[in-house]
Amino acid sequence: MTTLFSAEHAHQLDASDPLRGFRDEFQLPRHGDADQLYFCGNSLGLQPKAVRAALLDELDDWARLGVEAHFHGKHPWMPYHAFVRETLAACVGAQPSEVVAMNSLSVNLHLLMVSFYQPTSERHAILIEAGAFPSDRYAVESQVRFHGFDPVTSLIELEADEANGTISMQAIERVLAERGQTIALVLWPGVQYRSGQAFDLKEITRLAHAQDCAVGFDLAHAAGNLPLQLHDSGADFAAWCSYKYLNSGPGAIAGAFVHERHACSDRPRFAGWWGHDQATRFKMGSEFVPTPGADGWQLSNPPILALAPLRVSLEIFQRAGMAALRDKSEKITGYLEALIRERLDGTLDVVTPAEPERRGCQLSLRVVGGRERGRGLFQFLANAGIIGDWREPDVIRISPAPLYNRYSDVLGFIQTVEQWRMAQS
Ligand SMILES: Cc1ncc(COP(=O)(O)O)c(C=O)c1O
Repeated sequence: MTTLFSAEHAHQLDASDPLRGFRDEFQLPRHGDADQLYFCGNSLGLQPKAVRAALLDELDDWARLGVEAHFHGKHPWMPYHAFVRETLAACVGAQPSEVVAMNSLSVNLHLLMVSFYQPTSERHAILIEAGAFPSDRYAVESQVRFHGFDPVTSLIELEADEANGTISMQAIERVLAERGQTIALVLWPGVQYRSGQAFDLKEITRLAHAQDCAVGFDLAHAAGNLPLQLHDSGADFAAWCSYKYLNSGPGAIAGAFVHERHACSDRPRFAGWWGHDQATRFKMGSEFVPTPGADGWQLSNPPILALAPLRVSLEIFQRAGMAALRDKSEKITGYLEALIRERLDGTLDVVTPAEPERRGCQLSLRVVGGRERGRGLFQFLANAGIIGDWREPDVIRISPAPLYNRYSDVLGFIQTVEQWRMAQS
């Protein structure tokens, strides 16, 4: 047994982890008498303990003050969405005026495409990755049709060109060089949900802008996972959900980014009263005057009960710091990968790129032997209280989240896969 594989080594890594205290701030689901080994932050992040009190505060203010809580609540509801502005901006590397928490991810993608997908007869296509998350594909396809174009000719899905089903920057460069003049919008993932591959947002933006294409990013799997620099990337827009790495609860309120240079844009947009100029919103005039910045894309007054968990969660990110989180993330995912390569070669193939700059915390693991074997392993893990998630036909996604996962959790996962393998032989 090597040092790397020993329980002592894992415990030492946990003991010297500068972020170890954060685990206590989360509700760990139980498996019998023990905590689950929860690796599913890529799907639903765990509940920060402080969320319960934050929600109760809002319920109490509503009970105590009724409509007056808009102004006199502990956290007044009228400016509530602004309470998350600074922390949200810090989390994704944006200026505060460039971000807003609103709606859900697919809705935000649509609203932003209304502004940033403006097809013409020459330039009408949207470029996405082949195998994009279905909601994104449905969204872009419906946008193409909405504008009277045909997805057969106006939806370009770039196929993976690397062995594991990942996409090289050269392939992106090539498709933009060859077809860029027909592409109105590039909609790209920050981290691809199935492979776990992370992309260089700045470089994609540079390549796309060189062809005069608009660029938007779906950051569902990147927000709270990677230290993004959205402003500096130059992207036109981005959207993300907050229920994965941002730990803000099932169906949590999502995020949107609109680059500062579009702050006062006269592009088309779907309007609602909460996007109206704040200074005159309550004059209730009939003409829509957008408030500058990302706030101008809001439609409705925000759901306070959804914003409260996000506020609490982003405060945790602020205390931990994205740089420290990324540092641990690289280490703990690197540890997972090293153990898989050492102990589980021939059982699990790592699909996710090996270079740290090409991935976040998630590793997508293809179970050697196909779907039935993979399902068997997945069930064995679940029975042992080890929670990852399954992607057809044969991939288990395991995401050590640096806020609450321990190195010993990772070791527990490896040992359980070994037990399953022994039971098979
Ligand atoms: C990459 C990606 N895009 C879109 C969605 C859809 O998100 P929502 O249901 O919040 O609109 C998800 C959800 O997991 C996702 O992972």
